[in-house]
Amino acid sequence: EDLYEVANLPKVELHLHHEGAAPPQFIRGLAREKNVDISKVFRKDGSYDFQGFLHFLSVYEAATSVLKTPDDYACLTTAILEESAKNGVVYTESFISPDFCGGGDVEAWRDYLHAIREAADAAERDMGITLRGVVTCVRHFGPEQAKASALCAAETAGDWIVGFGMGGDENKGKQSDFAYSYDMAREAGLKLTTHAGEWRGPSEVREAVEALGVIRIGHGVRAIEDPALCEMLAERDVVLEVCPGSNVVLGVYKSLRDHPIAKLKDRGVKVTVSTDDPPFFHTTMRDEYVNLAKTLNWDASVFRDLNQTALDAAFCDGATRDAVA
Ligand code: ADE
Ligand code: ZN
Repeated sequence: EDLYEVANLPKVELHLHHEGAAPPQFIRGLAREKNVDISKVFRKDGSYDFQGFLHFLSVYEAATSVLKTPDDYACLTTAILEESAKNGVVYTESFISPDFCGGGDVEAWRDYLHAIREAADAAERDMGITLRGVVTCVRHFGPEQAKASALCAAETAGDWIVGFGMGGDENKGKQSDFAYSYDMAREAGLKLTTHAGEWRGPSEVREAVEALGVIRIGHGVRAIEDPALCEMLAERDVVLEVCPGSNVVLGVYKSLRDHPIAKLKDRGVKVTVSTDDPPFFHTTMRDEYVNLAKTLNWDASVFRDLNQTALDAAFCDGATRDAVA
């Protein structure tokens, strides 16, 4: 009965990529409609086909290439939120990239954002799930392109676009290459996060905190390799957006048993649980919770605490937080 309780808890998710949450059938349908051949993206059984992180990124971008209009993003938003709501998610933040939504042009970005927000507002009314947006630049597209994303973020910062982040290939360039964009986002009042410590080690996480001033870290799990860094993260209340299922499928850790989430928590680091790109990794928020409960013997009270940590670390305003709680 405890597993049942864990599975059915109301959940807060902080780390979800908008395109990465697209169901493969949804992408396949759009591809057919638009006559785009992306058959290499799928396995025979209809799931996404990739092996390893760099291949994942290229399949992700190929799948994303069929999302061509604001209306496509509105439909995608509805599909994502239906799936999340089914899994008990009551509040979620998703990463949305101007690179994919208008190519970094501010006016085009506004059109995409408007469409996404309308779909999100309808989902909130119909399904009781709240979405907020975190504008995201893509690391392997480089610092110049990131500035265009930061400008889009700054121009639309407010009660719905609440944060700025960076995803993509952590092995390209340095966190500090993106300081200009992060400064622009911070000055616009946005809260900051970045992917770090998924592929590179502890120094990447340290640099994210020190050079970019982020208050959350996407993944950050390899911080476990440096006790002094864990102490620093704990002391500064930096929150990790941990995605255990993603880490196992992409091979950061061999199995959930080898995953450091419990050790990080024991070191006093604030951890939360998210899915990253659920259909790519054959996971859901419910699966993540149940798998952690089974593997680590965590009971419902542990997950209630994780959720409170996530809600406290959400980038939305206090009124939104209170409405969710
Ligand atoms: N984009 C989508 N998922 C990602 C991940 N796990 N790491 C970096 N960039 C991503
Ligand atoms: Zn991610």
